[in-house]
Amino acid sequence: MWNDLKTLAAAREGRRIDALFAEDPARAATFSVSVGDMLLDYSKTQLDDEVMNALLAVAEEAGVAGRRDAMFSGAKINETEGRAVLHTALRNLSGTPVEVDGEDVMPDVLETLARMESLADEVRGSGITDVVNIGIGGSDLGPKMAYLALQPYCDGPRCHFVSNVDGADIADTLKLCPAETTLFIVASKTFTTIETMTNAKTARDWLQARGVSPEGRFVALSSNQEKAAEWGIPAERVFGFEDWVGGRYSMWGPIGLSVMIAVGPEDFRAFLRGAQAMDDHFLTAPFPDNMPVMLALVGMWHNQVLGHATRAVLPYDNRLTRLPAYFQQLEMESNGKGVSMDGAALACDSGPVVWGEPGTNGQHAFYQLIHQGTRVIPCEFMVAAQGHEPDLRHHHELLIANCLGQSEALMRGRTLDEARGKVAGKFEGAELERQARHRVFPGNRPSTTLIYRKLDPATLGSIVALYEHRVFVEGVILNINSFDQWGVELGKELATALGPMVSGAESADSKDGSTRLLLTYVHKNVS
Ligand code: F6P
Repeated sequence: MWNDLKTLAAAREGRRIDALFAEDPARAATFSVSVGDMLLDYSKTQLDDEVMNALLAVAEEAGVAGRRDAMFSGAKINETEGRAVLHTALRNLSGTPVEVDGEDVMPDVLETLARMESLADEVRGSGITDVVNIGIGGSDLGPKMAYLALQPYCDGPRCHFVSNVDGADIADTLKLCPAETTLFIVASKTFTTIETMTNAKTARDWLQARGVSPEGRFVALSSNQEKAAEWGIPAERVFGFEDWVGGRYSMWGPIGLSVMIAVGPEDFRAFLRGAQAMDDHFLTAPFPDNMPVMLALVGMWHNQVLGHATRAVLPYDNRLTRLPAYFQQLEMESNGKGVSMDGAALACDSGPVVWGEPGTNGQHAFYQLIHQGTRVIPCEFMVAAQGHEPDLRHHHELLIANCLGQSEALMRGRTLDEARGKVAGKFEGAELERQARHRVFPGNRPSTTLIYRKLDPATLGSIVALYEHRVFVEGVILNINSFDQWGVELGKELATALGPMVSGAESADSKDGSTRLLLTYVHKNVS
């Protein structure tokens, strides 16, 4: 199927996106899709009807609809770990039964949500000034991203997020927190992650060193209730979730507790409802009108068919500053795999490298390469029609103008003739020609734009669920397991073995020359 798509791509080589708009005045309406008040415009790409139909056929053939229904209904689609994949149950506020192994999981999900809400209310009214979430990967990126995104809704204690095992992270955070009024949340699905357990112990020692009892100061969010109990956190302060919630899909449940404490249970529910609305859309909309499906297909056209290896996520929304990092884990931990479900080598490239920064900052840093570099980088812009600062409307207008200006510039580019016009009068002859060439923009660079009314909790929920489902669709088409992450294991094992070599307790003679050289440097320079 990739070969057919590559043939279609070859037949379109050199065709200009701006010419497609000239040929078809209705292009923007045809190549865009709406859900609620969110609009995804993918018309600034080379897609046309024939390519679209071919991509849709690929999605049909791959069995996306069947696999999607299997996921929502609790089938064990995470085959390498023998687990269901049910983060969608965490936002199933209607409580419609969802069964795993013949048992409805919803009563437990809703009970845990209610317990979280009563703890959040208690903490918000208790004089706690600071909450420190200690977790890493999926136990950090989601809540931190959402906390920053929802700042206008935060009216609870200040939240901090400690993830790195580098002592600098917790040391710098603890300097900001009064020991008497700080609550620690130990967020770890497994409750064994070395970074998190090391930071949690440091936090406990810090409290004790200040004469504050750790009792009542720690909450655990984990699937491993036994380990949390061993660590000394009583059952009523442990919020559990099942193994059918993957780490990078977990902020909808207990892992979102810091966000719930910050914004309050009502706004957290709005966040869940926004995600649930996207779930309903994903389940019911025909594929051509299905936003996650279309976003996935456009992404695959760029990555697997045209071979553009990276994808930039560019929110023109400063509060989404951690969204690109969140999407990095979502996409790259889910779809960065080399074998298909049956263990055979993948016949095409796996998921893309995802990176990005909020606009307009990125414009003054790396957009140079996006506009004039030799590689094409498909860009995914995001922007709200409204900001949260009515007094600063002129800022928001500039923000929108920049967002739209960038996608237009990427598409149109600037010809040599136009560039000559820019320098005419300043230079002459060969120098004019040389100067003009530096000012040429190739253009024809694809982008999509997701536009929404305002970054409120429901919209944030919808955006994140949109991307979750997009990654899911890509994974089904690639026939990979998007829900395991074996690729993170080897480095962890080797780090554990290296620990005693770093401290000097064990010899490093068995190691390669490079590792020995680096360890020798450490041993010579440790104070
Ligand atoms: O590094 C891999 C990983 O397992 C991620 O998938 C996960 O989000 C993170 O580590 C943290 O894991 P835990 O929540 O179990 O501490």
